[in-house]
Amino acid sequence: MRRDLITLDDLTETEIQALFGLAEDFLQRMTSPDHPHRIRGRDPIAQDFVLATLFYEASTRTRFSFEAAMLRLGGEVLSSADPKTTSASKGETMADTVRVVENYADLIVIRHPWEGAVRVAAEYTDVPVINAGDGGHEHPTQTLCDLFTLQREKGTLKNLNVLLWGDLKNGRTVHSLVYGLARFGARIIPMPADGLGLPDHVIHRLSRDYDCIPIDKKDMGDTRVLDELPVDVVYVTPEKPHQRSLFTDVGEVEDKHLRTRLPSNALAKIDACYVTRLQKERMSGNEAGGEYPMVDAKFLKGRRYKESSVMHPLPRVSELGYDLDDDRRAVYFKQAAYGVPIRMALIAAILKLKQGILAEEPPHRLHPVYRERTLPCPNPQCVTCQESEQRYLWPRFWIVPVANSVLLRCTFCEHEITPALVGTASSKTVHANTSRLESLPTDLVFFAHEESARQAGYRFESTPSGGKYSSSK
Ligand code: NCD
Repeated sequence: MRRDLITLDDLTETEIQALFGLAEDFLQRMTSPDHPHRIRGRDPIAQDFVLATLFYEASTRTRFSFEAAMLRLGGEVLSSADPKTTSASKGETMADTVRVVENYADLIVIRHPWEGAVRVAAEYTDVPVINAGDGGHEHPTQTLCDLFTLQREKGTLKNLNVLLWGDLKNGRTVHSLVYGLARFGARIIPMPADGLGLPDHVIHRLSRDYDCIPIDKKDMGDTRVLDELPVDVVYVTPEKPHQRSLFTDVGEVEDKHLRTRLPSNALAKIDACYVTRLQKERMSGNEAGGEYPMVDAKFLKGRRYKESSVMHPLPRVSELGYDLDDDRRAVYFKQAAYGVPIRMALIAAILKLKQGILAEEPPHRLHPVYRERTLPCPNPQCVTCQESEQRYLWPRFWIVPVANSVLLRCTFCEHEITPALVGTASSKTVHANTSRLESLPTDLVFFAHEESARQAGYRFESTPSGGKYSSSK
């Protein structure tokens, strides 16, 4: 079966570690002692293959490192770096573009400003697709570089304290990275710029899908240690994650929250500071403007940061001081260099030029999919909300049962909506979405409002838990 990489959960932990092993092998064989991070020469295992890079947003590192990776593997590259020169500028849809490009290339790497656009591309082509960043959603290959860097620097990912700095709301690298950190058991310490914290849907997924729960400051043990570290919450994956289940609810998560305490010295040292720039291009006018914090040599003077690796996906603007460039803790240029061996490993694995790295089948998805066209995705940046794509594309959601309702998570951009009404197509009735579902009928239907349910010919029926309509979020 073909393998794509659209979000980080398209790879298992075992596959990620296998990719790291292969990247390490390229580093060992294709670097010199003078420049141990810089791949040189060729290992021409991909000489019969062509890679297409379709970039609809600015890029230096990601596109060049993908292209360099393909060239180092002996393959050829077709490159589109300027959306104005593609047929998208004439109104061509994503679905049509990839059905054309698949005739010219064996693998397509796409960067796009719409969230979920690369998932759509993957659904309309029969060649493998890799997401090089889709709007503010995810950037899984950057996360592979980030985790690889961390593991090389620290020897492990387990129990690391990783401070995330800056624009955590709009930064797609952070959105993929937190899932990776949670899955490998690192602690996530968010230090967002004012008003730019992790989005709710990302926090929800951390606990619901990856068992990574928030511990409040008051439960963190020795508060003296914390007084110097101005954080309110740390996300932690407990030692023994409970079995993932479709019906895990918020109650259970809260219960775990109460039972989990951090050891008193758990945050005495920070293993890595992951700095990000303000994502101006993704902000509405009223969001931008506050003071943006800076990490520099002065900030890193504290005892806690003595061994902190300073990371940044780059490009930097003014959030990371140039005074750190010669500091032994600065690893951001090394992190950028690892983009080549990591992407070589990924290309080789996806093109099946190296066996035993990726399993035949992609990882199993936990949640069933809702396909009825009864409500839109709430995220205006989602690919399903774009006029051009609406000619052939409809919203689609994962059905996620929670404590006393069901929420829908967009399969493209992962934003969530709690519909006001739920019912079944066979009964043609709906009721308020205010109770826990014990099973999932195959003909479930959801509506955002009473009006849309009535228009579709559905009748409202009150339930013992109350018949009131709740408004959708
Ligand atoms: C990042 C991106 O494009 O999201 N850059 C990268 O790919 N290394 C980070 C950013 O632009 O801030």
